[in-house]
Formats: sequence, structure tokens, C-alpha cells
Amino acid sequence: MPRQSADGHVPVLAAELVDVLAPHGGETAVDCTFGAGGHARLVAERLGPDGTLIAIDRDPVAEERFAELAAELPCDTRFIRAAFADGLAQLREEGVRADLVYLDLGMSSMQVDTRERGFSYSYEAPLDMRMDPDQELDARDVVNEWDERQLARALRELGEERYAGQIARAIVRARGRTPIETTKQLVEIVSDAIPVPARFAGGHPAKRTFQAIRIAVNDELGQLDAALPLAWELLRKEGRFAGISFHSLEDRRVKRFLADRARGCICPPDLPVCVCGHEPEADLIGRGIAASADEVAANPRAKSARLRAARKLVEVAA
Ligand SMILES: C[S@@+](CC[C@H](N)C(=O)[O-])C[C@H]1O[C@@H](n2cnc3c(N)ncnc32)[C@H](O)[C@@H]1O
Repeated sequence: MPRQSADGHVPVLAAELVDVLAPHGGETAVDCTFGAGGHARLVAERLGPDGTLIAIDRDPVAEERFAELAAELPCDTRFIRAAFADGLAQLREEGVRADLVYLDLGMSSMQVDTRERGFSYSYEAPLDMRMDPDQELDARDVVNEWDERQLARALRELGEERYAGQIARAIVRARGRTPIETTKQLVEIVSDAIPVPARFAGGHPAKRTFQAIRIAVNDELGQLDAALPLAWELLRKEGRFAGISFHSLEDRRVKRFLADRARGCICPPDLPVCVCGHEPEADLIGRGIAASADEVAANPRAKSARLRAARKLVEVAA
């Protein structure tokens, strides 16, 4: 049973992650999303005294958590406070090779539950939502400065929000009267913009808007697109990659990336015989693993989680 950390974060799909990664003594693991260290602890325990855990996170609270946890871990440890695409690029520059690289995407419970960080539509707080508080762009900038078209597009594409146009229009109208400073103000504007019958049909009416703004503020999809090839490049032959996603925009990217690596022949379909000689670089070892009913009952956050994983079959990727 995965343990809840001191900060209240329960690692999602923890047993399944450890199962696909299969960490061995002496290996090097890169945890791209350290958070409260729940997954890292489980992996580190298997790496043992000859292993190395490199943890990345852009949140200074995760760095504090790492400082507390590192002393309890049996292996060598190192923390890089950076966006994971930058952290992985740094490791590549240093010539680091890894046996395991994994990402547990999205926000941590520590972030959602720290009211003043403004991630949650359930608490009144300033509009912030930055995982890295040193970053300039925050949710207030997005909500008050993006034009209506940009806002509608973000809500549609990043939040999969059906009423994106109406919500964007309502935001622009409201901020013309007074700047939108808080989560509560935004929740009210969004709720009022959605037709009454639809307001509570798909969970909280502001859920998709908050998701979209958070993804935009933290450039979550850009980070993922940049990180996947770097993570793959860092892996040694026989190394294992795993990614846990919480919505379809992320999951689709991880799925497509791994499927491309696992493809053999890439000849045009009308050729009768293969002439490309292309060999697969990956063996898929986890194809959209979901949390068990028990895990979802104990931790509802796990409901939308999907784990995908692959083993690298080549020393250097093509
Ligand atoms: C779901 S939590 C990870 C929880 C962790 N696996 C655990 O067991 O405690 C995601 C973490 O990844 C971090 N994160 C998300 N996107 C990031 C990015 N692009 N670069 C660096 N850190 C990121 C967040 O700050 C957050 O701490």
C-alpha cells in the first residue's frame, strides 16, 4: 500500500510504476517530477546503496521535501530545481546515462492544497497557479491580459471546455469593469457563463477552465513535448521509461511518442516488401494502465491516471 507522505501526497499507481520500472540495485534513476517524493522513495529503496537517484522538480517546496527525504534514502541522491525539459537537457550535456526515467505529470496534492497558490477552484486565493513561483507568467496575467481569441482557444484546447467561447467573452467583459484577481471571482464568472442545465453536469463548472489556465501558465504540454525525446535519449539500452498522465492531452502525447519508438518497418504501406530496414527502438511494457477500483476509492485523484511504459532496445536512439 503506498504511503501518504508527510505533506499528504499519496503517490498514484505506485505499485504499477515500480512494477514496470523494475529498479535493480546499482541503477541510475531520474525522477522528473519529484513532488513529495512518494515514487522516488519506492524507487530509491530498490536502487540500494550503489544506485543513484536524480530528482527534478521546478517547485521549491519539492526541493525542501527532497532535502528532508534524501537523508533517509539508501542511494546517492541529487536534486535539480528546474523545469524537467531543462533538467533533462542539463543531464544530457553532462553525459549522464540512466536506467530509469519517469514522469508523474500535473500538480501535486501539496500544490493544490496550499490555498494561497491559487490552483484550486475550491479555495479563495489570488490567481497564481505557478509551479515555479520565480516564473513571471501567472494565472492573473493569463486571465487579465490574453485576448478573447487566445483565451477561448486555451479553454477549448487545454480544458476541452465546450463553452470556451462564452467563458472567454464573459472574462473579457468582467475584467473591463474590474481586474480579475482571485479564484472566487473567476469561478463566479465561469459559472455564470455556462448555461444552467450544464453548470453541474460534468463536475465543478470551473474545473475545465482551471485546468486550461494551469496548463497554459506552466506550459505543461510544451514541457512534455520537449522532455520525451530527451528522456529517451538519456536511457541506456535495456533502460525503462514510464509516464503517468492525468488527462488525455498528456496521455495522447506519451502514447504517440512511445508507439513511434516501438514501430518497426516505416515503409509506405503500398510497398510489398520492407526496404527501410527500420528496427523498433522500444518494447511497450505498459499500455495505459489504470488505477484499481480500490486505489480510486482511497484516492479519487487516481481515477484519470494512465501509466504508459517502454523498455529501450537500442543503445543510442536513431
Ligand atoms: C503529480 S506531482 C508528482 C508527485 C510525486 N511523484 C510523488 O510521488 O510525490 C507532479 C510534480 O511535478 C512537478 N512538475 C510538473 N511539471 C513539471 C515540469 N515541467 N518541470 C518540473 N517539475 C514539474 C510539479 O511541481 C509537482 O511537484
